[in-house]
Amino acid sequence: MATVDQNELNPMIWPDSARRSDSGEITIGGVGVTALVKEYGSPLFIFDEEHVRNRARSYLAAFNNSQIPTEVYYASKAFLSTKVAKWLTEEGLGIDVCTDGELEVALRAGVKPERILFHGNNKSVSELEKAVKVGVGRIVVDSLIEIERLNQIAAVNGVTAQVLVRITVGVEAHTHDAIATAHEDQKFGLSIASGAAIDAVESVIAAPALSLLGLHSHIGSQIFDASGFEIAAHRVIQFAAEVRNKFDFTVPEINVGGGMGIAYVDGDDPINVEHMAKAIHDIVSTECHAANFPIPKLAVEPGRAIIGGAAVTVYEIGTVKPVDISYEFTRNYISVDGGMSDNIRTALYDAQYTVTVASRNSSGQLHAARVVGKHCESGDIVVRDAQLPADLAPGDLLAVAATGAYCRAMASNYNYLPRPAVISVKNGQSQVLLRRETLDDVLSLDPGI
Ligand code: LLP
Repeated sequence: MATVDQNELNPMIWPDSARRSDSGEITIGGVGVTALVKEYGSPLFIFDEEHVRNRARSYLAAFNNSQIPTEVYYASKAFLSTKVAKWLTEEGLGIDVCTDGELEVALRAGVKPERILFHGNNKSVSELEKAVKVGVGRIVVDSLIEIERLNQIAAVNGVTAQVLVRITVGVEAHTHDAIATAHEDQKFGLSIASGAAIDAVESVIAAPALSLLGLHSHIGSQIFDASGFEIAAHRVIQFAAEVRNKFDFTVPEINVGGGMGIAYVDGDDPINVEHMAKAIHDIVSTECHAANFPIPKLAVEPGRAIIGGAAVTVYEIGTVKPVDISYEFTRNYISVDGGMSDNIRTALYDAQYTVTVASRNSSGQLHAARVVGKHCESGDIVVRDAQLPADLAPGDLLAVAATGAYCRAMASNYNYLPRPAVISVKNGQSQVLLRRETLDDVLSLDPGI
């Protein structure tokens, strides 16, 4: 028997405005999920606009609390629509994009190009041309070939492109310095240890149409403590000092990337943003002092930490099937109307989620359950290990928390399933961020239809 109240919504996990009404229905932004599903259909991603804005404000406040000016860019790969881009730029964030598609959405949202930062280990020539032509503020270069390519494109267009060099600091997220170099063997960045980073910096300095604005490092995602960022900042500043000594060039900006974690299930305890900001600022001050290096401008790029906890996915239950696992253990398989096409994270990363009944209170006894989708494979699991009331029935709604980041963004049309609608709520009002795909949308790609 579980000891926690099954109807309680842990504020660390659920959107800021999520409540359970007297009837037991979950409301977000003052609107009940049943009415939302009636209006927009199921499955449904529901974003709490104020939650997103609150996280953006806390990041800005925490990182600008001290002597070190820090820009906050929202990593739009986590989830992007024009309205989300507008909310975040209104709050004062820049936008990090990594494809033409993300860039186009940001531009269509009216984001000023100089507030956009463009990433990627294999940006195409046309992506680079577009970035240069529209005047993207910062381009993060990731290889010697790209440096050469971008220099040519900028020269042809008669501009100087502002460049950050993505360097690999040899830090494996969640781990400590001693075992950190294990992370050299991956596709991103130019390694400090191998000398590739210093060669890249030399090429950028020598390139007539490029201006070296900064160094960039990103150590991973869903990180719960500050130690990885501290080691990364330490190495980036040491490297910046090496650049100064070698080329008599002082790098003005250091971007320590994103990756700050969020709570998905009870017991998850990510470091809060104030502590994270203080730890990063302290290490930057200390290292700069030790290396006699002027304090650079800082930048961070949170994605999940801004948007992840802001949304829930609501599904309708289609079937409930008790499956005998052993002589004395039965698991209830609860099948919902979506699955790995709207949340691949459970199958891909073994991610854990919190799920609860969303349309009513339940006093039913809790039973071991697995929330599964409607796709044709057994790995199609949304929540692997849940405790859900034994009285769940077809038609009940379930809400899965903290699905704002990397769920709709990584959604697919597996089994020709149209992708769900994404809406936002605020002060009792709802609006569409992305409409539901129709079967016609999906079929329209096939010229034989
Ligand atoms: N900056 C760079 C250069 C990145 O590559 C990423 C994420 C971020 C910022 C933002 O990271 P965040 O703050 O959201 O952790 N699909 C995975 C996550 C992949 C992250 C990729 N890069 C997931 O579902 O957990």
